[in-house]
Amino acid sequence: MKPRTLIVEDERAIRLALSGLLRREHYEVEEAANGEDAIARVEGERFDFVLTDLALGSGKSGMDVLKAVKAHQPETPVVMITAHGNEKIAVEAMKAGAEDYVPKPFDNDEIRLVARRCLEKTRLARENRELRERVERAFGFGNLIGSGAAMQKVFETTRKVAETDLTVLIRGESGTGKELVAQALHQESARKSAPFVAVNCAAISKELVESELFGHEKGAFTGADARRAGRFEAAHGGTIFLDEIGDMAPETQAKVLRVLQERSFERVGGTEPIEVDVRVVAATHRDLEADVREGRFREDLYYRLKVVEVMLPPLRERTEDLPALVTRFLDEVAERHDLAPRTLSEDALARLAAYPFPGNVRELRNVIEQAAVLSPTERIEAKDLSLPELGGSPSGRPATPDLTLPFSDSKRDAIERFERSYLLHALRANRGNISRTAEAIGMVRQSLQQKIRELGLRSEDWGKD
Ligand SMILES: Nc1ncnc2c1ncn2[C@@H]1O[C@H](COP(=O)(O)OP(=O)(O)OP(=O)(O)O)[C@@H](O)[C@H]1O
Ligand SMILES: [Mg+2]
Repeated sequence: MKPRTLIVEDERAIRLALSGLLRREHYEVEEAANGEDAIARVEGERFDFVLTDLALGSGKSGMDVLKAVKAHQPETPVVMITAHGNEKIAVEAMKAGAEDYVPKPFDNDEIRLVARRCLEKTRLARENRELRERVERAFGFGNLIGSGAAMQKVFETTRKVAETDLTVLIRGESGTGKELVAQALHQESARKSAPFVAVNCAAISKELVESELFGHEKGAFTGADARRAGRFEAAHGGTIFLDEIGDMAPETQAKVLRVLQERSFERVGGTEPIEVDVRVVAATHRDLEADVREGRFREDLYYRLKVVEVMLPPLRERTEDLPALVTRFLDEVAERHDLAPRTLSEDALARLAAYPFPGNVRELRNVIEQAAVLSPTERIEAKDLSLPELGGSPSGRPATPDLTLPFSDSKRDAIERFERSYLLHALRANRGNISRTAEAIGMVRQSLQQKIRELGLRSEDWGKD
């Protein structure tokens, strides 16, 4: 296909000379005799290169044409033709994104060269973008990486439902990327320039959750000294992400159900119904079916939420994604810590593939990050990976249980051993910082502190620095 160029020049003789010159270079050439005409074309058609005179008579100028190109096709290079002695404006044009400028009087070779250079640039930029898109299509979606069939299916569903306003329920263990899917659903939708509001239903106390979600009127309860808008209102036009919805109190569940059914609600202490246009995305790591059976989660809400369900498989069931994930995380750490790029040995990869990753991708990211920073060499070996022993023997066969104990006691002991070992490792990996550990393993900070107390863990145990 011939490259498409646009020539914007009010002086007919010069315009014809330029277009003749570029046609002889075998480009497709379009012409505009004034700024208005040029801007209209730029808004509606794609060009590979725009050559514009700076002064275009009385109306819009070459600067306006430049702005229109940058707004509608930012990849397209623009070259300014400037009158002799107008270098100051030329510099301004360059600052505004022009590729180059050619002072009048110009000679033909100069124009030919600048056009060739610009078109080469366009071609490279386009090739680069296409390549990136191809890689993204093959291995990722939004900020999610996944080369295997399971994740590809997730991406496909996500892409399809993103354009709709259907309610989506994202499920999966902790650290499998539920929040990233929620963000991708928003980013790939027509709502992307409106807010994405995430609410962690497990982190807000039962007393505050309704005011948080729906807002409150002045005087609705002690301490409510001013009217406040809630998160549903804040998300108007965009997406609300109800994270950990399985942990929501039953009374709140009823109110959320009503919003899903009627798209309206009242502020706490208010009577006036408020209507919002929000897309609801929810996530949970819980077994909602069991919660419904046992009366902890409303069945009607459950069905309202799971109009579309996105299931994120645990990392141990998709080890085929490990190489792509590891590569991404190694690149990220190298960049963040200004390190030489690290690689992972085959043995180390095999070790990762054998480890069950209870904290899923989040845990993998932490393990990789830690190994990359601490590894003495550029190649990370299996021994550089700090992976907790999750009960059982190193051979992978479960340790022989103590059969003199009743099952329930034995199970409690095993869980406690696991919790102790897991938390100690996690705390050590995060240098004893409770907030960071909680974030890294997907626990609410308060729950982590509570666990630490329950297990009687002390900072000497994990060696605070
Ligand atoms: N497919 C993926 N590709 C790249 N990174 C991922 C992927 N999945 C998860 N991650 C990484 O793991 C981190 C945790 O992901 P996310 O917060 O989406 O998990 P989650 O399922 O919401 O976990 P939780 O239930 O604990 O809230 C992300 O910040 C990201 O670094
Ligand atoms: Mg999450």
